[in-house]
Amino acid sequence: MERKKRTAPSIVAMKERGEKIAVLTAYDHMTARLLDEAGVDMILVGDSAAMVVLGYENTLPVSLDAMVLLTAAVARARPKALVVGDMPFMSYQASIDDAVRSAGRLVKEGGAEAVKLEGGRRMVPKIAAVLEAGIPVMGHIGLTPQAIHELGGYRVQGKNDDAKERLLDDAKALEEAGCFSMVLEGMPWQVGKAITESISIPTIGIGAGPHTDGQVLVVNDILGYVEGKVPKFVRSYGDTKKVVSEAAGGFVRDVKSGAYPDLDESY
Ligand code: KIV
Repeated sequence: MERKKRTAPSIVAMKERGEKIAVLTAYDHMTARLLDEAGVDMILVGDSAAMVVLGYENTLPVSLDAMVLLTAAVARARPKALVVGDMPFMSYQASIDDAVRSAGRLVKEGGAEAVKLEGGRRMVPKIAAVLEAGIPVMGHIGLTPQAIHELGGYRVQGKNDDAKERLLDDAKALEEAGCFSMVLEGMPWQVGKAITESISIPTIGIGAGPHTDGQVLVVNDILGYVEGKVPKFVRSYGDTKKVVSEAAGGFVRDVKSGAYPDLDESY
């Protein structure tokens, strides 16, 4: 049976049916096609591209232009999955106008079908304005990497009762603002569960335990295509680093020895 195109409303309906939601990031056309064939429900063109594609230390430096370019590459795969464009740091924080125009670029030039932005209650006016422009918004609370300096590093959030209450209030504010879903990042599983049970829109967890309505991971992490130690919540499903190293090593060997190309590989 042909899969139906995922839309923001159909993602909300998945929670109503109790169906888990699988989300991965992608930053290029081919990966987007393969993830879509594998059946993901949403492809997030995350600002994690700053780190895993562009080699920056954190997500802050990536520009809106770069995010538009990467989003367009993914959208051209015409996936059944919903394409969500991530709004990079300083593309929406300064003003409501910025938020609407940046979201508009991700949709108009990048082909995104929804956008994601980080932050709780204080982002409600911007979320409302983007929604007013007809663009579905995914929220993102908990460990919000664009606020790394405010948070004092990549720290698990919601660890005491007050912090948990604040996250619950943020989640309710985003739901009331009209978000169609929200990412819950870096929080104890009990907090992920409490938020998920207290709102009607889907929660997509990353390091937020097993009780969220869906899960998202960075594609490089599941592929084993990253340098250094990965966070505790990452499950790796492949060893792409090994595949790339072996293929590149084989090519270098064959060129150096003259084994590549042979006459069958020549015009
Ligand atoms: O940028 C990203 O990849 C993200 C996910 C980790 C949720 O925001």
